[in-house]
Amino acid sequence: MEFKDQVVIITGSGRGIGAAAAKSFARQGAKVVVNDLNQEPAEQVLAQIVADGGSAMAFAGDVTEIDFPAKIIAATIKEYGKLNILVNNAGYTWDAFSHKMSEEQWQAIIDVHITAPFRMIKAAAPYMRGAALQEIEAGKETENRCVINVSSVSGLHGNMGQANYATAKAGIIGLTKTIAKEWGPVGVRANTVAFGYVDTRLSRAKEDGEAISVKGKEVALGIPEKILQQLDARVIPLGRAGNVAEAAAGIIMMASPQASYITGHTLEVTGGFGI
Ligand SMILES: NC(=O)c1ccc[n+]([C@@H]2O[C@H](COP(=O)([O-])OP(=O)(O)OC[C@H]3O[C@@H](n4cnc5c(N)ncnc54)[C@H](O)[C@@H]3O)[C@@H](O)[C@H]2O)c1
Repeated sequence: MEFKDQVVIITGSGRGIGAAAAKSFARQGAKVVVNDLNQEPAEQVLAQIVADGGSAMAFAGDVTEIDFPAKIIAATIKEYGKLNILVNNAGYTWDAFSHKMSEEQWQAIIDVHITAPFRMIKAAAPYMRGAALQEIEAGKETENRCVINVSSVSGLHGNMGQANYATAKAGIIGLTKTIAKEWGPVGVRANTVAFGYVDTRLSRAKEDGEAISVKGKEVALGIPEKILQQLDARVIPLGRAGNVAEAAAGIIMMASPQASYITGHTLEVTGGFGI
């Protein structure tokens, strides 16, 4: 019960790594705000958490909408009265070689992986930085509070066909370190968790035909089969994809009160991909 009575928002937690993290936080006592683009996946994760004896609420919406951060933070404060942990996880890929990448493709991926996390952090500031400051001024012990931003080996090393995504996932590390410096003096931490090859629809074969529909546009997800076949033990020392529970464990570790002296760090949860 490491997160007992702590309130966690996880964007994009209707599926994949975010859903695994939401269930794990809830099992350890957190009150979880489950967000996804559409109501249905968010409601499914909420139902699983409640069936498991946990506490959660669903809040559907697109993280890139300008008014989304204010709305989800207001709903969280109305329901639970506070916010301890913000996990900026929502995202997708929209790949093309740089010389063929459209402005729309570039901007959509920058918006979801960088601008939305920045706005979420700004909207959360009164309840994270501000709440910590109030506790300090009142001479109280501060609660566990942190931001977790999600990055990728593409951000750490670059990746063919992902100029937009690699740029965003590199940039999020700079944003995280800046928040670590700005909010560190009041004890609020900020860390990045960078994933390698985790088995979700983002990393399965493109030929499977998975897609996401954002702002009325269908975007094909996945990695071409012939590239997946090259991901053997020469590239990933552990020689396999990670599963969503292993990926979520990286988020849980960095959010844990046991990580109280870890801030500004980038934790690589990659099976050794890129070392
Ligand atoms: N799977 C991997 O191998 C891998 C590797 C590195 C980084 N990541 C990152 O991990 C995070 C989670 O990805 P995943 O693999 O679990 O993918 P996923 O597709 O299984 O889950 C991502 C969720 O985010 C939601 N989402 C997408 N855009 C959104 C938006 N605008 N607003 C609200 N929700 C939105 C999707 O609907 C989906 O449910 C992403 O940031 C991704 O870039 C994944």
